[in-house]
Amino acid sequence: RNNLSPQTPKIKIVEVGPRDGLQSVSKIISTEDKIRFINLLSEANLPEIEVTSFVSPKWIPQLVDAKEVSAKITQNESSQYTALVPNLFGLQSAIDAQYQSVAVFTTVSESFSQKNTNCSVDESLQKIKNMRHIFEQKSLRVRGYISTVWHCPYESKMDVTLLFPIIEKLLSLGIQEISLGETIGKASESEVERYLIEILKRFDVSHFALHFHDTYGYAKNNIKKAIEMGFTTFDASAGGIGGCPYAPGASGNIATESILDLCESLKLETGVHREKLELAAQFIQSILKKDIVNHG
Ligand code: HMG
Ligand code: MG
Repeated sequence: RNNLSPQTPKIKIVEVGPRDGLQSVSKIISTEDKIRFINLLSEANLPEIEVTSFVSPKWIPQLVDAKEVSAKITQNESSQYTALVPNLFGLQSAIDAQYQSVAVFTTVSESFSQKNTNCSVDESLQKIKNMRHIFEQKSLRVRGYISTVWHCPYESKMDVTLLFPIIEKLLSLGIQEISLGETIGKASESEVERYLIEILKRFDVSHFALHFHDTYGYAKNNIKKAIEMGFTTFDASAGGIGGCPYAPGASGNIATESILDLCESLKLETGVHREKLELAAQFIQSILKKDIVNHG
């Protein structure tokens, strides 16, 4: 698709705007506008789009239309479409909606786990374990998020050693890609580097994606550092929209456009169509500007 030689360095952007970007917006966005946003992202050739989540609508009212959105988007053959699921019920809904790729989530922080999913970290890992036979049976591609890797809104700085057994557990459950979340965007470049060094002493870089929220404007430098260290997959939201309603103070993900700028300056390919991506970002920002209050 991009006429790249195998040697051409390539960065993969996982577009999480339709899920992470919209989940904390209190004013309900119409299903049609969500579909339009996702279709514009598909046209921009994002390699992966996290479309929605199949979570409790009592917890995330914005994404109550997950089924309808999933059924009505126009899929681009070269993009992968992923749905976030918290439990077996959500997984079954995602399968019913024809997903071949799902994302599950856990955290290193007990407090965040309780606030976000009403269970302990161990229980959240157990829920993922309970899904394993279905992952295998349906040959699903599974990505696993670990939230609050560096900082937690409730427990502040997290110890890097908390992370290792969770990574091991996710890998042992056959999860092919682990996305490490800086959920509240507080980690500086040196903190990010310190943790990544420890991670790379124990695990291969190919297992990981990085998920930076951009609350303090640190995300771009953090990604630059991570690229220097060999990481190649990054999560982002068109227009920098987003946040987690259970992470007070968290603002949006790094803007997809910012990663494109960074990659352009470093001469790295992403395969994303810049102008079309901007159309998607402008579209969703114009919808959000209309009458939105964002919790994040
Ligand atoms: P609970 O209340 O403990 O669960 O919530 P429950 O099993 O007692 O169920 C309560 C109700 O929800 C029941 O309905 C269930 O049927 C229903 P009722 O009988 O009351 O009518 N329910 C569901 N409905 C639809 N889909 C489902 C589902 N499961 C149960 N899958 C639960 C536990 C996990 C469900 C809840 O806490 C939840 O949905 N949490 C999700 C919170 C969330 O989506 N957070 C944001 C995503 S994570 C994030 O943003 C971080 C990330 O971006 C990375 C980073 O930035 O670090 C990924
Ligand atoms: Mg997030």
